[in-house]
Amino acid sequence: MVQITFVQPDGSRTTVEAAVGASVMETAVNNGVDGIFAECGGAMMCATCHCYVDDAWAGKAGARNEGEDDMLECAAADLRETSRLSCQLKVSGDLDGLVVHLPSEQV
Ligand code: FES
Repeated sequence: MVQITFVQPDGSRTTVEAAVGASVMETAVNNGVDGIFAECGGAMMCATCHCYVDDAWAGKAGARNEGEDDMLECAAADLRETSRLSCQLKVSGDLDGLVVHLPSEQV
């Protein structure tokens, strides 16, 4: 299992176990982490699963794909260099210890 830490806008942190192959969005939803709405269920149609990859993990998390870029332009919160749709961010062994920050708003 891989551990992922979600950081709320107020700085509170929740660390959960994630299954390899799941998405970071699924991991958040399945563990009741607040701040990931995922209204489209991972179909890359809503941008309510927006998150910011911690700077220390930006290199390992990989780049956004083209469709993800387009959808992130619709995100409610500021778009940053480290912005990702968490439904497109797949958990792998390399991401054990990943830290993602949640935006202050998703809609
Ligand atoms: S869950 Fe809708 S874009 Fe990620």
